[in-house]
Amino acid sequence: MERVEIIEGDITALALDAIVNAANESLLGGGGVDGAIHRAAGRGLLEECRALGGCATGEAKLTGGYNLPARFVIHTVGPVYADGKRGEARLLAACYANSLKLAREHGIKTIAFPCISTGVYGYPFEAACKVALGAIGDFLLRDERMEKIVLVCFGAADYALYKAVLERYA
Ligand code: APR
Repeated sequence: MERVEIIEGDITALALDAIVNAANESLLGGGGVDGAIHRAAGRGLLEECRALGGCATGEAKLTGGYNLPARFVIHTVGPVYADGKRGEARLLAACYANSLKLAREHGIKTIAFPCISTGVYGYPFEAACKVALGAIGDFLLRDERMEKIVLVCFGAADYALYKAVLERYA
């Protein structure tokens, strides 16, 4: 899948137009990548998030990047994985689709995603990758302005898994 790149690393270090945060519905920070992004961005991010009044699961909201090298942060809330029969895949796909839709509306051309819901929210990693690649593939079929979508894995094991899914899927 051209225009898609899978890397291993820390999403807060990426100097792209936008990075996506795997937030919770309060948008007031947390652990995992949410905690890392807020720590790196600084207080201004939390101030702006406070004014957003939260975000529903599957939806996405945009803020500035503050002290991050990225210009914007798109906050999206992934589903908490229960048993795969509660619409989790649909909600996870919506996180990617709504984040990309918001990016397009703001002329964002380079964007990085973490592996949404695969940490605290317990989504099985390979299943989540397939959902992500499906939603991203659908978007790229209809969009020619986006230049690069980076999928960031936090650790070598996740990176190897994601690459394997991409090879099988694409
Ligand atoms: N850069 C990139 N990826 C990261 C980073 C980082 N600095 N830190 C963690 N990750 C990865 C995790 O390894 C995991 O693969 O992000 C993925 C998502 O995991 P979580 O951050 O736990 O997010 P999620 O599973 O969506 O749960 C969201 O956790 O932190 C809280 O406030 C957040 O309540 C929300 C919940």
